[in-house]
Amino acid sequence: MQLINHTLKHYAGSKEPVAKSQNKMNITILTGAGISAESGLKTFRDSNGLWEGHDVMEVATPEGFARNPALVLEFYNQRRRQLLEVKPNAAHLALAQLQEKHNVHIITQNVDDLHERAGSNKVIHLHGELLKVRSCGNIKNIKHWDKDIIVGDVCEKGHQWRPHIVWFGEAVPAMDEAITIVEKADAVIIVGTSMQVYPAAGLMQYAPEHAKLYFVDPNPSLSSNDTLTVIAENATTGVAKVIEMIEK
Ligand code: OAD
Repeated sequence: MQLINHTLKHYAGSKEPVAKSQNKMNITILTGAGISAESGLKTFRDSNGLWEGHDVMEVATPEGFARNPALVLEFYNQRRRQLLEVKPNAAHLALAQLQEKHNVHIITQNVDDLHERAGSNKVIHLHGELLKVRSCGNIKNIKHWDKDIIVGDVCEKGHQWRPHIVWFGEAVPAMDEAITIVEKADAVIIVGTSMQVYPAAGLMQYAPEHAKLYFVDPNPSLSSNDTLTVIAENATTGVAKVIEMIEK
């Protein structure tokens, strides 16, 4: 079991078979907050990022939620309100288009729904989804939610609703499914992540030997080598370049 924050716990998610049909490549995309930056959403660790103005231990842990639920709910209410005001950018859209030619899976650390709104139809959210809530009394009681959550919003059984977000120290339910997908990849494109949070940051290690790896980030934490091509650019221009390289 792996726990988020350096040791992440996970339990088996549903296992979708990853089929490879002729002429189609299995392309796996791993995204982080950087892909949504040009849509207007803040990243976490850049200067003026979310973790500069907020204490991660207070707003993104179960302990923080137990201490001050109103503070945590308001942090995610602000995120949700902002999300409803922004749109997918050219990088989200280009990745969605890629699925017309290839078998594309998106594995995102992001809790926004910009990949889905761009049209991607195989999206795994490792760290949960901002537009869903789950019951504090039952981890499986999850539903769509696009307004503020306040203390006192409770499920049918009287338990408080909480954001459907994987907080530090909590299980990452989608990890097994994500590993299975990366293991079948012919190409892995990583976009806009500082690669600091595990187990997400370790996923690329599951790529098969023959897979080509690409990393798009204006401030990349990795350097190019025999298997990895780093494109030190913003997502909107960098993703277009990677797609061009793959199509060649
Ligand atoms: P970070 O904030 O750690 O990293 C954002 C990355 O995006 C950095 O490497 C930036 O250089 C890059 N970036 C900035 N602008 C960009 C642009 N226009 N195009 C492409 N890249 C750009 O965000 P994550 O790596 O996603 O988890 O953070 C991982 C996890 O840590 C998040 O899912 C969140 C956070 O704590 C939880 O809250 C559970």
